[in-house]
Amino acid sequence: MVELSSLLDGVANGCIEGSDRGLHYGDGLFETLAVRAGRPRFWSQHLARLTAGCIRLAIPAPDPALLRAEADRLCATQTQAVLKIVVTRGSGGRGYRPPLEAVPRRLLSLSPWPDYPASWANSGVQLRYCRTPVATSPALAGLKHLGRLEQVLARAEWDDPAIPEGLMLDADGAVIEGTMSNLFAVQDGALWTPDLSRAGVAGLARQRVLALAQRQGIRVSEGRLTPADLTQADGLFLTNSLIGLWPVRQLEGRIYPIDPLIRQIAEALREEGDG
Ligand SMILES: Cc1ncc(COP(=O)(O)O)c(C=O)c1O
Repeated sequence: MVELSSLLDGVANGCIEGSDRGLHYGDGLFETLAVRAGRPRFWSQHLARLTAGCIRLAIPAPDPALLRAEADRLCATQTQAVLKIVVTRGSGGRGYRPPLEAVPRRLLSLSPWPDYPASWANSGVQLRYCRTPVATSPALAGLKHLGRLEQVLARAEWDDPAIPEGLMLDADGAVIEGTMSNLFAVQDGALWTPDLSRAGVAGLARQRVLALAQRQGIRVSEGRLTPADLTQADGLFLTNSLIGLWPVRQLEGRIYPIDPLIRQIAEALREEGDG
């Protein structure tokens, strides 16, 4: 039996058309979900972000019940895996103008769970700065859209397997995020994270940390952070839906201790369980 690894509009291992606007213009959105014990985690949050993104791009959002049924079909036999959902505006015409008659497409695909060393979550990771800047684009800021060439260029800048992530800055020198994660700094018992109103992806794990901080009465500020600010921080950490939280052990030459607040947040995130 061929293992079911993708569904295109509900069809097993289907092929996307050459005229799809996701392929031509990055005209679409995606979600990356952790799958545990046959279930996609934090489903309702991923669905809400996908739906909000579709509204911003004026792409008709997929039917939630249909999407969930397809996700369940794919994930049912998986103990641990990654589910990626891609929604494109569909096929349509030559030229940028979105055709009214375009029918959105949805592609759900499974990948193996990335076997990151457990030490990265426990003892922290080594980070570097990327040379590739993130473009400032208020129209796209926050969205998990398909145009990821900046991240592709940034991630091609290094191949040291001991460095799992690089930080990206905007053209004005403000730190925005990692190539695949969001960044938090700890200073005097409070959290700082880059403002994402002009660039970057508003990650769901970041959102969970913000909500948790609010519940636990931890002060959080979203604002402009520079590399100089990061050298002054008591600690740093990264978040995304697959890694959860990685403390930062080293950024370029600076060694960071794992601040007790980072341990506290990591523990609370773990306790959130299956979402
Ligand atoms: C560029 C970028 N920023 C941030 C994130 C974190 O997003 P999330 O927490 O929703 O996984 C990702 C995840 O893929 C990403 O690609």
